[in-house]
Amino acid sequence: MTNYAKSNSVEEYLKLIESPKKTVKIPVIASINCMTAAEWVAFARDIEKAGADALELNIFFMALQKEMSSEKIEKLYYELVSRIREVTPIPLAVKVGLQFTNLTAVVNNLYVRGARGVVLFNRFYEPDIDIENLSLTSSDVFSSPSDIRQSLRWVGIISDKVEKIDIAASTGVHDGKAVIKQILAGASVVQICSVLYRKGEGQVRVILDELTAWMKKKGLNSLEEFRGKLSYSHIPDPSVYERSQFMKYFSSHH
Ligand SMILES: Cc1cc2nc3c(=O)[nH]c(=O)nc-3n(C[C@H](O)[C@H](O)[C@H](O)COP(=O)(O)O)c2cc1C
Repeated sequence: MTNYAKSNSVEEYLKLIESPKKTVKIPVIASINCMTAAEWVAFARDIEKAGADALELNIFFMALQKEMSSEKIEKLYYELVSRIREVTPIPLAVKVGLQFTNLTAVVNNLYVRGARGVVLFNRFYEPDIDIENLSLTSSDVFSSPSDIRQSLRWVGIISDKVEKIDIAASTGVHDGKAVIKQILAGASVVQICSVLYRKGEGQVRVILDELTAWMKKKGLNSLEEFRGKLSYSHIPDPSVYERSQFMKYFSSHH
C-alpha cells in the first residue's frame, strides 16, 4: 500500500502506483489522507488511471470548533465517500480512528455510501509533555502489541453488525498471534506498520510462518475455516465484547 501526504507531488505519487503495477502480481492499493472532498475527487480518478486496484481513504478531521456537532463531522466522511464513489469504480476502503460515539452506525453509513472496506483503526501522532523542559513533545510514534485491544473489540463487533463490509484490522499487530486473533474476530485482512519500522520487512515472512504453523497445528487449510469464528455473534456470551467497565472484574477478584 502506497501512501500520499499532501506535501508530495501528485505526479510522484502516481508513479508510485504505476511502477509496482508493472512488476508485481499482487493488487496495489493506493492510500490518500483526506481532509475535504473537493481536493481529492479529481485525484481519485488519476489514481484509478495509474492502475490502482483499490483506494483507501484515510479520513480524519480534528474537531476543534465548539459549535460543530458530531453529526456534521460524520457527514463530511459520508460526503467524501459518496463523491469519490461517483468518480471512480475501483473498490473504496475508509481508514478511520476510534473516536466515534456510534462506530457501528458510522461504518454502516460508509457502507451504504459505497465503501466496501473499513480499516480499524488508524493510529495518530499523539502529543506528550516534557515536564523538565516544559515543552510539548511526541509520544511513542510506534504501536506496541498491547495496542491490539481496541481494534480487536471493534473488529469482533463490526464484522457481525455490518457484515457486508470487509474489515482490515490495523494497530498493534506485531506477530502471527495477533493476525490469528484478528481473523478469528472477523477481519478479512490485517495491516502492519510499526513492526516493519522496528524489525524490518523480514517480519512479513516471520508472521506468515507463525500463522501457517498455527493453522497446521489446528488442522485448518484456509483462512475461511476460522474467519469470524470468535466474532460477536459466534461466541456463547457476546457481552464479553461489550464489557467496558472494570467494576465486575474487581468485585470478583477481591
Ligand atoms: C511513521 C508512521 C507514518 C504513518 N503515516 C501514515 C499515513 O501517511 N497515512 C496513514 O493512513 N497512516 C499512516 N500511519 C499509520 C499506520 O498506517 C497504521 O495505521 C498505524 O501505525 C497502526 O498500525 P501499527 O500498529 O501496525 O503501526 C503511519 C504510522 C507510522 C508509524
